Amino acid sequence: MIIRKAELETVCGITSTLPENLLPEFAFAGKSNVGKSSLINGLLNRRALARTSSQPGKTQTINFYNVNDDLYFVDLPGYGYAKVSVEVKAKWGKMIERYLKKSQMLKCIFLLIDIRHDPSANDKLMYDWIVSNGYKPVIIATKLDKLKRSQIQKHVKMVREGLGLEKEDVLIPFSAETKQGRDEIWALIESLQNP
Ligand code: GTP
Ligand code: MG
Repeated sequence: MIIRKAELETVCGITSTLPENLLPEFAFAGKSNVGKSSLINGLLNRRALARTSSQPGKTQTINFYNVNDDLYFVDLPGYGYAKVSVEVKAKWGKMIERYLKKSQMLKCIFLLIDIRHDPSANDKLMYDWIVSNGYKPVIIATKLDKLKRSQIQKHVKMVREGLGLEKEDVLIPFSAETKQGRDEIWALIESLQNP
């Protein structure tokens, strides 16, 4: 994929009206700090278009990135961010759900899981939500560079079993450092873009 244009077009907070985009949307969901914004930068070959941080809770709005006037990447706030109140967490949860339920153009929800760790109860809830709302789940196992090559298979199995993935569910290991997995993710996006 040649990236001719990659621009942050719309930023939505808790009370914002969601845009009614006319292009296919691809959303990135997952726990705070799992690497959603880094994945977006990696796919777009931009170092810092989507703001990232070593501190969890960086992305606190729903951000729509226009890519080539062909599609949107939708960067979601992470769930499970410990430092905000239960009330704020619930508001973010509602905002994310409102978007995921209402979007007419959402083609795929990528669920990001840190390849080093067992999926959490929230990850499992997110996976089940994706499936029960009729989306084909695509799991991105992030931070692949943090594992030794010899550990990868074991961890892929751990993530698959932890989420309760079906055999046909796609899981793509990805590293924002080495960009391993990037081409595979783009191939999938292109196949879903104009089915
Ligand atoms: P929130 O916006 O808080 O929900 O987080 P996020 O999911 O957008 O995570 P972000 O992309 O900001 O990355 C969090 C931290 O993990 C940053 O310090 C990144 O540099 C680091 N990180 C993300 N992906 C990778 C990766 O593939 N490998 C390594 N080594 N670090 C990564
Ligand atoms: Mg982020």
